[in-house]
Amino acid sequence: MSAADQIFAMLKESSQSGAPLYLQLRKSIEEAVNRGLIGPGDALPSERDIASKADISRVTVRKAVQDLVKGGLLVQRHGSGTFVAPRMERVEQSLSRLTSFTEDMARRGMSVRSVWLDRGLFAPSPDEMMVLGLSSTELVARVSRLRVANDTPLAIERAAISASVLPDPEAIGSSLYATLGLTGNRPVRAVQRISATNLGDSDARLLEVPPGVAGLHIERISYLASGKVIEFTRSVYRGDAYDFVAELRLTGPGEESRP
Ligand code: GLP
Repeated sequence: MSAADQIFAMLKESSQSGAPLYLQLRKSIEEAVNRGLIGPGDALPSERDIASKADISRVTVRKAVQDLVKGGLLVQRHGSGTFVAPRMERVEQSLSRLTSFTEDMARRGMSVRSVWLDRGLFAPSPDEMMVLGLSSTELVARVSRLRVANDTPLAIERAAISASVLPDPEAIGSSLYATLGLTGNRPVRAVQRISATNLGDSDARLLEVPPGVAGLHIERISYLASGKVIEFTRSVYRGDAYDFVAELRLTGPGEESRP
């Protein structure tokens, strides 16, 4: 049975529900995807095919499809049509190890690639001055990247490092931590703060998800053994891609629990 037939069969099942036609069609497409009748990455039949098979107007089909694109079940690629969104394999990330993105993905056998969004030396913002301990006459190196694993964009990371530590941001290859390690500046400790966020338009576009969907805002401040702050990174991660896992232990009597 073709995908259009599958959707039509679902639509016939729901046609007694009395709901508006576009909602019935939306539900039928959802059902067809949930039951695995059309799989992740499969092309959706054209608007015209669905409309003629189900004997409904193309406007109705468009409305149902647009709703599902907004909700993230379908993706539209310019010039090539509408597809069922690829299913995201969630990445489980321990919160007790100080690792780099490159190491995390390599451990899972995933290929890593970064798209440079920005890198250079700038006058520090008040936040950067405070966290990195810079004066207004010093410079900060900013390194912003879209991090992609196995061809799926997972995160946007915007790192700030004192220019005295990283005078040439252009020198970074694929890993920031590897570059810092070359001069003995790889962090050994970090404090990471994770909070919920809804992705704004431009971040959502880069991460290939609908605007407004749930994401994770992650701030990492990392330190050298001397206690000096080395990195101040603010990132946005896809909410559908990550599970952060922390091991918790009961603190013994007299033991102090500290962040
Ligand atoms: C993680 C951290 C970032 C850090 C990055 C370094 O993703 N959240 O704070 O800057 O790793 O990764 P890499 O060395 O691959 O550039």
